[in-house]
Amino acid sequence: MSKAKIRLAFFGAGGKMGRGACKKLNATGEFDLRCVEIAEEGIAVLRELGLGVTPAEQAVADADVVVFALPDAEVLGIAAAIVPQVPAGALVMMLDPCAAFSGKLPKRDDIGYFVSHPCHHSFLEKRKPGQHIVTALYQGAETHYAQGVRIASIVYAPILDVHRLTVEQMILLEPVVSETVAGPCCAAIKAGYDEVVKRGVPEKAAFDFLLGHVTATLWVMFGFGGFFSDGAHKILKMGDGIMLKKDWKRAFSPESIREQIDLILTHTGGEQGAGEGVIGDESVDAAVIRGGIVAGAR
Ligand SMILES: NC(=O)c1ccc[n+]([C@@H]2O[C@H](COP(=O)([O-])OP(=O)(O)OC[C@H]3O[C@@H](n4cnc5c(N)ncnc54)[C@H](O)[C@@H]3O)[C@@H](O)[C@H]2O)c1
Repeated sequence: MSKAKIRLAFFGAGGKMGRGACKKLNATGEFDLRCVEIAEEGIAVLRELGLGVTPAEQAVADADVVVFALPDAEVLGIAAAIVPQVPAGALVMMLDPCAAFSGKLPKRDDIGYFVSHPCHHSFLEKRKPGQHIVTALYQGAETHYAQGVRIASIVYAPILDVHRLTVEQMILLEPVVSETVAGPCCAAIKAGYDEVVKRGVPEKAAFDFLLGHVTATLWVMFGFGGFFSDGAHKILKMGDGIMLKKDWKRAFSPESIREQIDLILTHTGGEQGAGEGVIGDESVDAAVIRGGIVAGAR
């Protein structure tokens, strides 16, 4: 006898994450997939993939799993309307930990909440193609966790390691360290590249030299091997004083984290982010200039 298919309602099916995820989930044949999407463009993309759309209420009515791949600024509002309709025992899965961390998801003791996010491939790691993922069971049973891992493994395939964390640890990884901290550092590297090109260094030479040095510096700093020259040690220390704000670790304070999460979960900020920004008026992603906490590259 063939195994019963898992009834899966996927919200945001036609979005950037949703379209690829739904294609992969559908291809496994394991799911009775109900794609939920409201944007014309997203619906058209799904049609090209041979996938139809299902009205939200119908999709969740008897669902085993509900995935929210929704804009972060909309997810809490949609969850407030949809989660009360989710059958008892079902799993609600999100691709970002902010909504769970906010404590504002609808209270339902009889369902599971699971979060997963991709690590993206690190060019420092010489492993086969694929990416690691981080996962957290915010609420629910171990069976919910196993089901979430199975779905995340398809959505982010091909995957390598599955790291199990808490939602709080996921928040420290993103947005805090990988966006609020590392984002402005990356933007400063690009701004430095633009500056040397403006001063006459040929683009290809600047790119080859800078990216090679950034990779080598990370390689040494993370202990993969190699070493810094005495001169490099001295200049790294000096550059630290020029580039980093003295109190940059306040990015990890509870107040700042709360502010970062609020920014992500609401429509405030927009493309240029909120607060003073780090890299002046360059057009960088909102995540990169969140709050201007870390670097002072003006
Ligand atoms: N984009 C990435 O690289 C990436 C990577 C990892 C995780 N994520 C997470 O995935 C989630 C989705 O991000 P995205 O970049 O795919 O967003 P997106 O804006 O590209 O897609 C969201 C989709 O949701 C649809 N939508 C909005 N309201 C809806 C509703 N009421 N019912 C059904 N559909 C609705 C939109 O029309 C859109 O197609 C976010 O939580 C994000 O943090 C994104």
